[in-house]
This record gives sequence, structure tokens and C-alpha cells, in this order.
Amino acid sequence: MPSQNSAYVSDTAPGRGALRAARSWLHSDAPSRSLDGHWRFRLSPTVPAAADFAAEGFDDGDWDSIPVPSHWVLQGDGAYGRPIYTNVQYPFPIDPPHVPDENPTGDYRRHFDMPADWSGAERVVLRFDGVESLFRLWVNGEEIGGASGSRLAHEFDVTSAVRPGDNVVAVRVHQWSAASYLEDQDQWWLPGIFRDVTLIARPAGGIEDVWLRAGYEDGQGRIEAEITADAAAFPVTLRVPELGVERVWAAPDDVVPFDVGAVDPWSAERPRLYDVTVSSAAESIALRVGFRTVEIRGDRFLVNGRRVVFHGMNRHETHPERGRVFDEEHAREDLARMKRFNVNAIRTSHYPPHPRLLDLADELGFWVVLECDLETHGFDKVGWTGNPSDDPAWREAYLDRMRRTLERDKNHPSVVMWSLGNEAGTGGNLAAMAAWVHARDTGRPVHYEGDHTGEYTDVYSRMYASVPETERIGSDGSRSPLMNCTPAQSARQRTKPFLLCEYAHAMGNGPGALDQYEALVHEYPRLHGGFVWEWRDHGILTTTPDGTPYYAYGGDFGETVHDGNFVMDGMLLSDDVPTPSLHEYKAVAQPVRLTFDSGAGEVAVTSLRHSADTSDLRFRWRVEHDGRLVDSGDLEVPVVAAGESGRVPLPPVAVAHDAETWLTVDAVLAADTAWASAGHVIATAQQDRSARRPSPGVRSRTDWRDTDGTLTLGIAEFVEGSLVRLAGRPVTGPRLELFRAPTDNDESASEEVEESDAAVAGVSQATLWREDGLDRLTVRRMSVERTADALRTLSKVSAANSGSWVTVETVWSIEGGELELRVEIEPSRGWRTVWPRIGIRFDLPDGTAPVDAAEWFGLGPLESYPDSLRAARTGRFSSTLRDLSVDYARPQETGHRSQVRQLTLTSAGAEVLRLSAVPDTRGRRPGFTLGRHTPQQIARAAHPFELPDSTTSHLIVDAAQHGLGSRACGPDVWPEFALRPESRTIRLRLSAG
Ligand code: GAL
Repeated sequence: MPSQNSAYVSDTAPGRGALRAARSWLHSDAPSRSLDGHWRFRLSPTVPAAADFAAEGFDDGDWDSIPVPSHWVLQGDGAYGRPIYTNVQYPFPIDPPHVPDENPTGDYRRHFDMPADWSGAERVVLRFDGVESLFRLWVNGEEIGGASGSRLAHEFDVTSAVRPGDNVVAVRVHQWSAASYLEDQDQWWLPGIFRDVTLIARPAGGIEDVWLRAGYEDGQGRIEAEITADAAAFPVTLRVPELGVERVWAAPDDVVPFDVGAVDPWSAERPRLYDVTVSSAAESIALRVGFRTVEIRGDRFLVNGRRVVFHGMNRHETHPERGRVFDEEHAREDLARMKRFNVNAIRTSHYPPHPRLLDLADELGFWVVLECDLETHGFDKVGWTGNPSDDPAWREAYLDRMRRTLERDKNHPSVVMWSLGNEAGTGGNLAAMAAWVHARDTGRPVHYEGDHTGEYTDVYSRMYASVPETERIGSDGSRSPLMNCTPAQSARQRTKPFLLCEYAHAMGNGPGALDQYEALVHEYPRLHGGFVWEWRDHGILTTTPDGTPYYAYGGDFGETVHDGNFVMDGMLLSDDVPTPSLHEYKAVAQPVRLTFDSGAGEVAVTSLRHSADTSDLRFRWRVEHDGRLVDSGDLEVPVVAAGESGRVPLPPVAVAHDAETWLTVDAVLAADTAWASAGHVIATAQQDRSARRPSPGVRSRTDWRDTDGTLTLGIAEFVEGSLVRLAGRPVTGPRLELFRAPTDNDESASEEVEESDAAVAGVSQATLWREDGLDRLTVRRMSVERTADALRTLSKVSAANSGSWVTVETVWSIEGGELELRVEIEPSRGWRTVWPRIGIRFDLPDGTAPVDAAEWFGLGPLESYPDSLRAARTGRFSSTLRDLSVDYARPQETGHRSQVRQLTLTSAGAEVLRLSAVPDTRGRRPGFTLGRHTPQQIARAAHPFELPDSTTSHLIVDAAQHGLGSRACGPDVWPEFALRPESRTIRLRLSAG
């Protein structure tokens, strides 16, 4: 039997006792005190029997101490339990609204001083900005109330309980409660008081709440104010000093909308804010107002009359050590980083962030879709039976969540849309939330992806729609019904603006195809872009038993149910390092497009911005010969208005005859901004200006030397036909390598594949690769032939229990005085899958001079794959071997540099080996990866620390690689970038360093 004492944890009511109505999170001069800091703390595995601990005289001397804000599972080195990660699954039985008796409960206590001069306050309020998941509150032994709604603010009236001088506050926090059913977001479950606690004096005649709706039209600003205050607070004065505006309202009825004259509008690009004060005699509130008008006109989403394209990120609050505890400095840097990567929008997945984040978004400039703290995804498991979204017993909880979301953040110009929540099915309670928002805020539309048929929301939103499907949504022509819609519902959805609230799942290495989504946005104005899933990995910093630090994911804390590394799907690694996918995103989302018109000798500069012109930018050009700078300068570009294009003459380019000639143009910031310094590149384009040069044919000459069974050809030495040394250092290879350590996308068995690939629905590519033995190929040498001009070997490469094979012919010769290796790779018939790669591998044991860095001319500087090539540019790059690989949370394929022309391997700065690649007859060039582990070794490690110590560097030269796709949650590799087994030639020239 549940004890009476804990029955309330199953109560669907969102709050009890002296809980106050939601209001804005305001910057007021009314006195307040932070109660953050160390609290006494005791954790119980179940709900303790009585609440004696709340009494004043209670001795908490043997309790621990814990910081507030924090999550108890991230404190005390495991003494208070461990984090649990689940995506959809509930980590407790689906038995709503009940939760198990095993319900970790944290009791918190502290003393605080209330200043004597607060006794004049009309009211004293205690505010909790975030407590997961349900809490009860006592002050000086008196029970005040309780609340749930973890990522929402709750204020309690504690006037009757507090007194000047010493007070005791006690809070009991339950990890699980009825509310947990509504908080099934894909993230760690992290209980505790994790946001600020503040004691606030509310003065008599104070201003309880202010809402300034600041609109913009035709250059003019307008303010519509809503003041919540007793009549005694009046007169209330609003001042906008910069605009010379002062309004005095003598009584509540006087508060009417008024024009403020000419203003600069607010936009994500030019986040112009005006300081405003709203004051009564007793209290003054400071706000920063941005004038902007949000509107839906037909199927367009407009701000200030212009269409918005969301280049957005889904942003969770997550940090490897703090969890969801907010750190303003880190958040500001995180947002500045977004700006540097051409991100202009944030969806606050899947709950309101710390309230200060919206101040930062106003200031730095983001379009924000602000989402309510709501998700019931785990009901999917039971066919959505009992889903709270359609059960009247939960209606008040839903409405309360929405009210707290909207009321807290309603003043922010950055917030342009409200979102009801995420993946909560559909039902009357969601419709009721939407109706309430529509009534309360006519200035912002309502979003909710789960309203597939568009019954109660204003925009059409989808997650992970494929490129063809997105195109069908964008084009008017299609009469085919939309997902889960009847023809009539489809027609209704097509009348609305469309956005992808999630797409481009960035788990591990990937996603591919960002550019394909981007292209659609420019073709179909109904498509308003979207929000990448997601901004950052949620790894939690921990250590192995021997003390090696690593970023933990699901299962690493011994959870009963968990979802593994599905929580590591960000464009930033857990330690803030941008992955190559973020660079790709930046290149794809660049707000200025540079197009070369060689015929006219011009470059066109097109601004894809919302409203800002290009007066903040400078344009630079440079010419490189084989990646070496030969000339550079500034390009004079007249200011281009948003949506417009300008053309300017190309700079003079000296074309080399014995090298490739590339012209690069960069658009850079002309001056420092709040998020980047002058010179920061926001857009780049390159033009190949090389003179045509035929690739050399094969006309070999040899120069054999044979000593003691070792055959020497140029820098190569062979024993029995096998390469043993290059430039004097031991080497094995080349051996055919068809395997790559599967990416998270390669490992996904989702049903989401293109029609032509129906055969792989439900089974991962990685599974098929392993079935076909690509990771365990064996070699049978069929012949070694030494002719006058070459050494040829012919091998058959295949796997145990496979009837398919690949014939590999290697030909070593001397061409133009240099050693040449030509490898012909020919698959037999019968291979049924795509291949991860077609490459050859060389193993270079360390000896006395480990290969530890590379320099190359080709695409760089970062890794690239056939469907993720936009960030890569042609140039000369260098990197340590270490930095060639990305530390994905789960080791997987990484480091591929495409279209290499020249590659130099070095050891401690000394050149070891030089390779140059001869394009094949179709002009294709190979890529390379250089690392300390073979694909097979990488594939066996679940975390970086599981990779074995290595004494060898491995160079793989790939004729081709398979694309990346985003099948971990979304579409597989687009057919054009899928690697089918095919014949390939790799031709390399090798020389000593
Ligand atoms: C979506 C969900 C996100 C996340 C993502 C996969 O369905 O809304 O929260 O789980 O899938 O990573």
C-alpha cells in the first residue's frame, strides 16, 4: 500500500498551497536575495515517513551539504545515485499517474536571513526557477505548498511564514512523480534543485507583471503595454530614454497602445534593443525591448513583413559536469559560437531554458521557438493508451505548464513562436493549450509537431522528413496526401508555413545532405528551414575505474533501461569542440552566396539574409597555385540589400601552367561584433582556374636491383612480391580495405530508406557489411610477375563463407623517375550491399620515427564525405595525426580527406614519405585517412578509452567512400552518394621525404 504520506506524488495537479500565478521573469529593483549556495542535504531511497525535518528545531547536523543549484546524481561521486539516460522509454512502469515506491527523495534545508527592513514588504515570495521533478516547501516548519513542472518557474507566497532575522527553509524533492509522465524528453533524468532559488520582497504599490508588446511597421514602433498591479501602484511611468518617450498612466484604464515614432526594428541579424523602464513609486522594472511584428500571411511566416528562414539548432541545456545547471558565461559563449557558425535560430528543445538565456538571445540575435516542458513519448510503447494528452485528469497540468512557459518569457523579442511541447501524441489537452495561447498572445503563432493534421496549430511542422518528402511539402503541385493526413487535411496543412522542427540528426559522423535541404528552402518559399537535431552531445564527464576520463552515455551508469549513445547526437562534442558537421552546416547556411561567372568575368554577391544588408561585411580574395598563396586583395562590393544581388568584376588571376590555380573569395566581418572579431569568415566560394593538363599515361621504365632476395625498385623494397619497405622504413600493404568502422548512421536499422533500397529497410548497412565479411577479408595471392618494366601481383580478396570476391592487381613501376603504384580493384558479381569504402591500406610501424603528422594538397582542412563536402575547400593543409580524427563519443569512421593531390607524411617534423595521386580516367581523385587504429579496431571500441595502444600508423587511400546520410534518425544516404561495388583504379606516385 502506498503510504498516505507519499500519495501526493501521484497527484496530477501541478501545484498546491500558496503557489502564485505565473508572471514574467523581470529585472526589478525590488529587494531580493539569492538562496543559492550550500544547503544541508539528505537522500532517501523512498519517500521518508514524516516531514519532521522541516521543523525549526530539527537537527540536521549529520546531513551532508550539497550545492544549490545542482543535480544530486552529479554530486558526491555516486553517493547519491547516478544519472539515467532514456530517449523514449520511461525508466519506471507505465502505470500513470503512479510511480514506484523506490523514489529517490532529496531533503534540503538551509537557514537564511531576512533583512529587518523587509518587514514593510507587502509580500515575501520564494521563487524556484527549476526543480526536478516534484517538490514540497516548508518555511519555519510551516508547510507552504508544492509544485511540479521541472523546467518552469514557481513562486510561493511565504509572507505569513517568514520573519526578520533567521529563518529555516526546507524542501523535499522527489525524483519521480505524476509529472515525470509529462517529462519524458530524450535526455538524462537529473533530479534536484537545479536552478536558482530566490527570496523576493514585493513592495506595496509594486508592479506585479509587465508585458510590453513592441510592434514594428513601416519604420514605426508601437508599444502595447499590459501592467499587472494594484490601483495603488499608479501612476506608472514608462520611459524609453533613447526615443525620448515618456508615458505616465494615472490609472490601469489609461494603459492604451501608443506609437513611439521611428525606430530600428529588431531582427536576429540586427538585434536592436531599446532600454525601457516601467516604474511606480515603489518599484522600477528594466526591460530591453525589440520592435518587431510576427505574422503569418498565407503560407509565409514573416517578421517585420519579411519571410524568415530558420537556420536553427535544437538546444538542450546540458553540460558534462553541471548537467542542466545554467552557467551564463558558458551559455553566452555557446550562443556566440552558434552565431559564428551561421546559426540564426534556436528551438528550446524540449522545455524553457534558464530565463537568462532569452536575454542573451535577444541581445545576440536569434529567432527562438520557445517550447513548453512537455513530452509523453513513452506512451508510444502502449499504443498511446492512457496518454495524458487526451485525458481530462491532466488538463490542468497541461495548461499550467503552458501558462508558466508563456508568462515567464513573453517579453522577449527573440521569441517568435510558442511550441506546446514535443512528442506527446495528440489530444484535447494540447488543443486546450493552443487555444489558451491563441487567446493570450495574438502576436505569436503556435507550433506543435505532433498535430500532424493541423487541427490546432498555426504552422506545419515535421521532423526528419526526407529530402523528396520535404520537396513534396514545398511544392504546390503535389496532390499526394501528407504523412498521417487525409487529402483534406493535407490541403489544410499546405496552406501553412512549413518548418522542420528537427532534421539532420547529427549523431556521430554525419549528417549528410545538409545542402540538399538548404537548396529546397531557396526553391519553395513555403519552406522556412528548420532546426538541426541537435546542437550538442549530452556526454557526462566521468572516469573509468583506473581514472581515465571519458564522456559517458546511456548504460555507462548501469541503468536498468537506457538508450545507449543516442544522446550523443550533437554538432558539438560534449567538450564544446565543433564537429566537422558544424563546419559543413556553416558553409551550407552561409547568408551570402558568391557565384562566379567566368564568361562575364564577374562574381555575383547575393544576400540571403532576412533584412540586413551587407554593410557589415568586407570581401577578400586570394589566388593559390597548388595551395600556395600567390596573390590576394580586397574586392570592392557595393552594399547589397537583403534578398538582392550585386555583380563585381573578378580580380586578376595569374594562371599557373605546372600547378592548379584556385581563386577563393571570402565574405568577412568588417568590424568586431558581440560574437566574433573583425575578419571572421561568414561565407566562402572557390573557383578552379587551372589550365587543363592531361594526366600522364603509363609508360614505365624500371631500374631493378636484386640483393639477397630483396628486390629494390626506386624507394620500394619487396620480398617475394610483397612490399616490405618504403624509403627505408618498414611498411606492409597495400591491402584492400572495404570496411570502415560503422558510423551511427551505418549502424541504424531504421525502415527509412529510399524506395530503391527497400531491401535494406529494417537492417543496418553495418550488419550487411559484417555478414558479407567486409571487416574480415582474406587474401589469396594468385600470381607475382616481374617483367622488365614492372612488378605485378594479382590477388583474390574474399571473406570466409562468401562466394564473392574482389580481384586486386597491383603494378609497381618507375614513371618519370618516380615510383608508381597502380592498383586495379575489380569486384566479382554477387555483392549485394553498398560498400563503405574502396581503399588500400598501408601499415607503418613506428620504429624509431613514428608517423605523427601529415601535410596535403586537396580538400580540407577537416574530414569530408561525398554528401558532406561543402565546408571542404581546395588548399594545402597540415595536421597532426591526432587531430586528423574526431573524438566521436562512440569511436567510428573519421578523418577522411577527399580529393587529395599530394600527401606528405612526417615524423617529428621530418618528411618520411611523399605521395601524389594521379586522377583516374574520369578525373576522380582518391581521399585518405591516417590514424593509429584500423577500422576493425575502431569498430570494436564503444568508447575512446577502449581503443588499444598502438605502435603503428595506418594510411588508407580510398578510391571512394560511401556517404554519411542521417539514418540514425532520418533518411539513409541519398542514392547519388551511396557507394555501389564497382571497379576502381588507384594510382599513386611515391617518393622519399
Ligand atoms: C526526436 C525527438 C528528439 C530526439 C530525436 C532523436 O524524435 O523529438 O527529442 O529524441 O528524435 O535524437
